[in-house]
Amino acid sequence: MSQTLQIRTAAQSGASAPLTVIYAAEGEAPAGAAATIWAATGLDWPQAAGAGAFKGRQGQALDIIGQHGARLLVLGSGKPQDDAPLNSWTDRGGSLLAKIAATRVETVSIVIDEDGATPAAIGELAAGLRLRQYRFDKYKSARAEDAPGNLVITLHVADPAAADLAIADRGATVDGTLLARDLVNEPANVLGPVEFAARAAELGKLGVEIEILEPEALEKLGMGSLLCVAKGSDRPARLVVMHWKGGKPGDAPLAFVGKGVVFDTGGISIKPAASMEDMKGDMGGAAAVTGLMCALATRKAPVNVVGVIGLVENMPSGTAVRPGDIVKAMSGITIEVINTDAEGRLVLADALWYTQDRFKPKFMINLATLTGAIIVALGHEHAGLFSNNDELATRLLAAGLNANEKLWRMPLSAVYDKMIESKFADIRNSVGRPAGSITAAQFLQRFVNDVPWAHLDIAGTAFGVSASEVNASWAPGFGVALLDRLVRDSYQG
Ligand code: BES
Ligand code: MN
Ligand code: ZN
Repeated sequence: MSQTLQIRTAAQSGASAPLTVIYAAEGEAPAGAAATIWAATGLDWPQAAGAGAFKGRQGQALDIIGQHGARLLVLGSGKPQDDAPLNSWTDRGGSLLAKIAATRVETVSIVIDEDGATPAAIGELAAGLRLRQYRFDKYKSARAEDAPGNLVITLHVADPAAADLAIADRGATVDGTLLARDLVNEPANVLGPVEFAARAAELGKLGVEIEILEPEALEKLGMGSLLCVAKGSDRPARLVVMHWKGGKPGDAPLAFVGKGVVFDTGGISIKPAASMEDMKGDMGGAAAVTGLMCALATRKAPVNVVGVIGLVENMPSGTAVRPGDIVKAMSGITIEVINTDAEGRLVLADALWYTQDRFKPKFMINLATLTGAIIVALGHEHAGLFSNNDELATRLLAAGLNANEKLWRMPLSAVYDKMIESKFADIRNSVGRPAGSITAAQFLQRFVNDVPWAHLDIAGTAFGVSASEVNASWAPGFGVALLDRLVRDSYQG
């Protein structure tokens, strides 16, 4: 059983719980509301700090056990910074959760009394608590050493009412990130295309309009590219359209499109066995789009948005697409399938064309765990950003920095585009090792039809990332906070 977490707010005075947490800045004694709580210990600050080698640096802690067993934890808040980025508060929340978890106390009071502790900062801190606390342990049998069942954290802040609003607003985005993590972590035997579509349909409860297109409908639309990937699997493809109508009726929507390969064996061009289990995460793009729709609907974002995800399983079998096969995409372009492991671009080709054709969006952003080559280029630190529109790219780069889900822009050009020409068809789906991420992006660009567009290659950031202050999970839910930030900063009324 997973631990539950409740976050409440209260006034700064009167904090009292089995565990109380206060902060002290670098080289300083606890101040404000924290000073009152420290004074109640009867201890001398310089003496206690000296004995605990506590200097107030970020990450440092001074753990005091009081006379009746009540605990006081003093955490370092580092050097006070006027221009500390908001996401430093998210990290602080994450680090705080880890410290609290280590004490194994279930009822905790946190006192926050600092200049920078605006309601938005408290919202980030609460987000960090939830993001760090997340575990995907539903398939693990309970053990005695597991975390206690219910954690209740009260944040004692200057303006509890304003903090509550900020926590709820930022919390909507956390809901979306955690949904994306759950989807990526889920194994493919449990989450096939049909099951994924059913999970997306649950967003109907939040007011998202859902359409699920089955293979017959996709056939009628002419989606020969997407459908050929699903041919080797017993589990049929789905295309899910999620529509959030929070803006003015008639306003062109923003569009987000996700690669949802629930498992990528490589197909007939089969992958080696090492780490193939990671390919349960090859639907990370679709998970991010679904998480984003959850976030936007939960916080009732005043904007029209459409999310489109292409869900397939890439398997080898007697009915699978083969190298050399030629398929026709919905746009009319013919594609020679050189390598059945370059399947993500085949799925997105039809999903992108369909999205721009039907919705005439303001822009189209797709997310995909598209190429191993982007991991070679950028590791797990940045996702690759490809775009035909400088303004959109600039906004995405800024949103990535603010949300701490960073992007790095990569090139597109006519020379790379020429590389995807085919001997037998209009284009081919695989070119070879040089510029592997770029030629994949050029392939996608053939299906966006001049709409402002960006492609995020999240192969290195959607799963298998190292742990951070805000994530202890294999899948961090990359993309949700970034795109929610983009929408908030640039596209809401
Ligand atoms: N899903 C993979 C890309 C991937 C690899 C994501 C590792 C995450 C971790 C994609 O479908 C793929 O197999 N791409 C091939 C393309 C090649 C055959 C042109 C690749 O990157 O090797
Ligand atoms: Mn593949
Ligand atoms: Zn793939």
